[in-house]
This record gives sequence, C-alpha cells and structure tokens, in this order.
Amino acid sequence: MPAGPGAYRRAETLLRRGELVALPTETVYGLAALASDDSAVAEIYQAKGRPSHNPLIVHILTPEKAKDLADVSPLAQSLMDRFWPGALTLVLPKKLSIDLSSVGSAGLETIAIRCPVAPWVEGFRSLGFDGPLVMPSANLSGHISPTTAQHVFEDLGDRIKLIIDGGPCAGGVESTVISIDGDRASLLRPGAIAAEALAPFISNLSFADEKSSPIAPGMLESHYAPRARVRLNAIHKAEGEAFLGFGVSHIKADINLSETESLEEAANRLYACLRSLDSLGKAVIAIAPIPMTGLGVAINDRLKRAAAPK
Ligand code: TXA
Ligand code: MG
Repeated sequence: MPAGPGAYRRAETLLRRGELVALPTETVYGLAALASDDSAVAEIYQAKGRPSHNPLIVHILTPEKAKDLADVSPLAQSLMDRFWPGALTLVLPKKLSIDLSSVGSAGLETIAIRCPVAPWVEGFRSLGFDGPLVMPSANLSGHISPTTAQHVFEDLGDRIKLIIDGGPCAGGVESTVISIDGDRASLLRPGAIAAEALAPFISNLSFADEKSSPIAPGMLESHYAPRARVRLNAIHKAEGEAFLGFGVSHIKADINLSETESLEEAANRLYACLRSLDSLGKAVIAIAPIPMTGLGVAINDRLKRAAAPK
C-alpha cells in the first residue's frame, strides 16, 4: 500500500491488534510489531525464521521516550541530541520496570533503541500512537536486507498483511549500533553513520570483538547472503561469474555500485544490486574491492558476512 494517511491508519490498526506491518525507514525496510505485545514479538521471530538469541531494536517515535526505557548517560544524551532522529542505535542499560515484552531482548539486561526518520513516524503520532515498535530488517533471517517494498514482498509477502511502500530507502545500509556504558562506547555494528562522523562526539570508541563478544549476539557470521557464493576483492572476472564493480576499471561489470566511486551511492545500491545479480543464477558473485573509509566500513562488513560460509 502506498505511503500516506490511509496507509498509516491501517498500519496503526493492525499494529495495535498485534499484527506485523512492514515499514520503510531511512536505512532499510523494517518488520514492525508492538514492542509491548509478547505474541506479536514472537511472531516476528517466526515470520523471519530468526534465532531467538538475536535481540531486536526498539524503535521510539520521540527521542524523549528513551529515558523511560533506559539509563541515559550524558554521553548517550549527547549522541541522541546530535544524531536523533536518525540511523544511530544505542545499546543502553535497560530500566527495570518497563512495559515492553521481554521476548525480543534475548535475555539481556540492555536495550537497543533507535528513533527512525520516516513520514509514518509523524503519521502515527498524529493518530495518538507512539509505539514503541520492535523492528528488525524485513527480510528472511540471514538473507539480503530490503531497500524497496518489492524486496520485502519477495521475502515475506505470504506472511504479512501490510507493506507500506515509501519508495527506495535513502540510506541503504542499517543503522550504526553503539553500546554505551557510562562514558565508554563500543561499536557493535558499523552502519549508516560512519565512525568519522561519530568521532567528534566520542573520545575513545572501541571496536567490539565479535568472536568473543556475547554483547552483540545478532552479529551472526553469515548474514546478508545471496544464494550465490560471494568472492570479495576481485580484480578479475572468472568464467561463469557475475561481477559487481566499483569505480571505473577494465573489467566489464554486470552491475556497478558506483562509477564515480561514491560510497554513499554504493551503500544505497548495495542490497538491490546483490539481489539483481543473484537473480542472474550464476554460481558466484565476484565483487570489486571497496575502500575501508566512511560508509565503506559498513559496506565491507556486510560483504564479509555475505561471503561467509552458510
Ligand atoms: O537500520 C536498522 O537498524 C534497521 C531498521 C529497520 O531500523 N533494523 C535492523 O534490525 O537492522 P536488525 O534486527 O536487523 O538488527 C539489529 C541488530 C542485531 O545485530 C542485534 O544483535 C543488535 O541490533 N541488538 C539488538 N539489541 C541488542 C542488545 N541489547 N545488545 C546488543 N546488540 C543488540
Ligand atoms: Mg537484519
């Protein structure tokens, strides 16, 4: 259903009733459920085939709501002031008595919170509905994240009643996830807000070691995966491979992420390009090297997981 007041009314009715709705955000499309409804949250895991140890992000519709759910340190507050609403998810110590389902928290004492940018946020608020919503990316677990309503339909069309079509997402990769403990910050997932943009606000950002880290249980090794095998940092195209290029080169790419070497454009097109290349039916998708700066860090993170053994 196209985005607009009618769609927001229908979505609100369904969500309040405990049903799932797919919603566009500035990063990727999300699969939303009312965060206070145990069975709706359980339904999210069911629909995506998501392992129960992978916790969900709670999406709030006004930044002030964070204080009701979590302990907000001065560092957390300064990041909220600067980056919310926006593509930054903060993992914070959870308040003890909050009216949210524990089904999406994977038994953790922390809570991941984000305040997204999307027209439905205002739409819901004007209906007197302020969530909060749990909202993972609206793809089957382990598959490529969706950046259009069509992508959501391909993965989950038979399992959900409503997809709000807000056109292609502006960002294209998921939010950056940072865990905050007092004045310490740790990067759990590189994402749409690059570390360079965060640096002026965080004096010492550490990088979570995902192998030993139980704090980001959802960062599964294989993720964002197409059906085809993925070969990274390819500098030639082998017989029978599909090739995803970046910048201008002598290799004839099937698709180019960005001929002008724009990492913003590459992030924006990444998931749609992987889906299109996968539909060519080749056994291997070879991918040109992408620089490890700015959004390139998030792009390389997703590609590494797309290439991991399934
Ligand atoms: O951009 C986004 O963040 C999108 C849109 C729809 O908002 N959502 C999204 O959700 O990417 P999902 O479920 O695909 O990824 C959530 C990530 C997972 O890696 C999960 O492990 C982590 O956030 N996470 C959630 N709660 C956490 C917690 N309490 N501690 C550590 N990591 C957490
Ligand atoms: Mg996801």
